[in-house]
Amino acid sequence: MTSRYREVYAEWQKNPENFWAQAAREIDWITPPTRIFDEKAGVYGHWFPDAECNTCWNAVDRHVAGGRGAQDAVIYDSPMAGAKRRVTYGQLLDEVSTLAAVLRDMGVSKGDRVIVYMPMIPEALFAMLACARIGAIHSVVFGGFAAKELATRIDDAAPKAVLTASCGIEPGRLVPYKPLLDEAIRLASVKPDAVLLLQREQAEASMIAGRDHDWAACVEAARAAGKRADCVTLKATDPLYVLYTSGTTGIPKGVVRDNGGHMVALKWTMKNLYGIDPGEVFWAASDVGWVVGHSYIVYAPLLHGATTVIYEGKPVGTPDAGAFWRMIEEYDIAALFTAPTAFRAIKKEDPNAEHLKRYQLKSLRTLFLAGERADPDTVQWAERILGVPVIDHWWQTETGWCIVGDPVGLGMLPIKHGSPTVPMPGYDVRIVDEAAQPVADGKMGSIVINLPLPPGALPTLWKNDARMFESYLAEFPGYYKTADAGYRDADGYLYIMGRTDDIINVAGHRLSTGGMEEVLASHQDVAECAVIGIKDALKGEQPCGFVVLKSGVTREPALIEKELVALVRDKIGPVAAFKIAVTVARLPKTRSGKILRGTMKKIADGDEWTAPATIDDPAILDEIQASLKAKGV
Ligand code: COA
Ligand code: AMP
Repeated sequence: MTSRYREVYAEWQKNPENFWAQAAREIDWITPPTRIFDEKAGVYGHWFPDAECNTCWNAVDRHVAGGRGAQDAVIYDSPMAGAKRRVTYGQLLDEVSTLAAVLRDMGVSKGDRVIVYMPMIPEALFAMLACARIGAIHSVVFGGFAAKELATRIDDAAPKAVLTASCGIEPGRLVPYKPLLDEAIRLASVKPDAVLLLQREQAEASMIAGRDHDWAACVEAARAAGKRADCVTLKATDPLYVLYTSGTTGIPKGVVRDNGGHMVALKWTMKNLYGIDPGEVFWAASDVGWVVGHSYIVYAPLLHGATTVIYEGKPVGTPDAGAFWRMIEEYDIAALFTAPTAFRAIKKEDPNAEHLKRYQLKSLRTLFLAGERADPDTVQWAERILGVPVIDHWWQTETGWCIVGDPVGLGMLPIKHGSPTVPMPGYDVRIVDEAAQPVADGKMGSIVINLPLPPGALPTLWKNDARMFESYLAEFPGYYKTADAGYRDADGYLYIMGRTDDIINVAGHRLSTGGMEEVLASHQDVAECAVIGIKDALKGEQPCGFVVLKSGVTREPALIEKELVALVRDKIGPVAAFKIAVTVARLPKTRSGKILRGTMKKIADGDEWTAPATIDDPAILDEIQASLKAKGV
């Protein structure tokens, strides 16, 4: 099949508003848009400024009304809990409208924020949709974050209620959420009125009288009383959710997603990018705490009338490296979307794909990878063992959907390993130098997007237009700064090579080294520190912290390093995967006092390095190399 990509992209270029007006016809509006884009509204404009809609209606009720009531909407499979469950669209409507009535009775209404701090269970998805139904703005916090991170998000979002469960389940250990939540609420200056807690059989959480409510009991009581909440009317520009993501400091950015543009963009991607038809099974093996989980576990597959999968497990060890193959066979999965790190984990454990011999993967048409750079080795291995196209695609929490990819539904373009292929309609991607001038093909530069961003991308940061402008729009006027660097080749293929800021990517998780430095610096014995991401064969990168101890500290450095590792786990959470702290006598700096993180990274990665001309004292670099060697890094 020849690809329609170039024709469709040119159509968008010719008339972006017309393109999105056509795409908007796929959505059930309460008041359809008469204006497509208002460039004067918001920080850089608003999509569908006069339309009204409800996202939950489009994800649930619409399909029941349209005859999909008996089709599976959600498949839950948990090797962790030894549980499986299927939820039809009809049952999903019952679950979501009943839970929405519970939230309403707890005093939650349109515009209120609700924090969702939950493991990968269907109730997390019910919670998000119940919020969407009544116009409450959900903010899901990944379960691997610790109390302090949760507290920061509570303070910024000022939620009326928190929805949680008694525990998450990680290999070999339970993660009791309630003590973390109680501690977070204690640390936060904003106190939510109510907590709705789902008791899982693996752990019972204690309840605080007056504030905490039992999820199952509340839902049961609402159901017995015949209570259900209807979908409320929202402006297309009203926020659907806020998702916090790492910025360059310890204060995360609250990425806002609106209702209308988000639906239009995600619905478009399901067929045109992912090649999925309604009724098919689409599996994003991520977590609802990340953007991939928001867009492709919850919203996009349901907006499309497909079946989505909630998998509470890992690619390896639950029970083995055949876990993904079992899932694909058991549920006739048509497309799998995961992070390259998951395939690196499988490859490491089962390089010859022996486990695959036990399964039939007839249903699988495509594997999609995102979240971090897809290294050609891993992509080729996946292609070889699966025998289906492996599509790398590049996006960010901020955009909410793919910026650069290979549109399977429009007809695939030839794959070039190392490139996620071409910009999607909606994205005018440019490679520029520091003066915002275009650079030649093949030359590295900053990747920016000509404004406006398309529907679905963030209109702003939560209650912080100024930070939105400062973070993304100020440096390259007229453009959105992606903070990724890369280049374009002569065929128009893009190559995304790495971040230009201090964000690192660990197992597909986005982390701020600045945030980790703040934690290390809070230790009583630490005078100075620097955290960098160093190469890791499994997780892509892993954080490595260098610390200079205060003069006069006589305690064993090894002991302090252990405390620092524990401190980051305690303050940020296990997801930071912070395992290496190295004590050094001095940090390498420029004469103006800037820490030479880039050179330290090259040394740690074993790449070629030279001492920058501006360095204060070149001997320090040899000391860093010796310290890393002594640590076995
Ligand atoms: N709740 C609590 N803790 C969690 C958690 C959660 N929801 N998710 C992860 N953690 C913990 C892990 O148990 C681990 O703790 P440990 O240090 O005690 O081992 C730590 O956080 C780091 O987690 P992670 O980096 O995800 O590694 P992992 O050990 O769980 O396994 C691989 C990761 C190697 C299997 C990896 O291939 C993978 O699949 N990662 C997830 C990829 C992903 O979903 N990315 C999202 C973007 S698409
Ligand atoms: P997140 O916001 O967590 O989705 O992380 C976004 C960042 O992950 C991007 O800015 C990139 O640095 C990186 N990233 C995501 N997908 C890709 C990809 N396909 N190729 C290269 N880098 C990627």
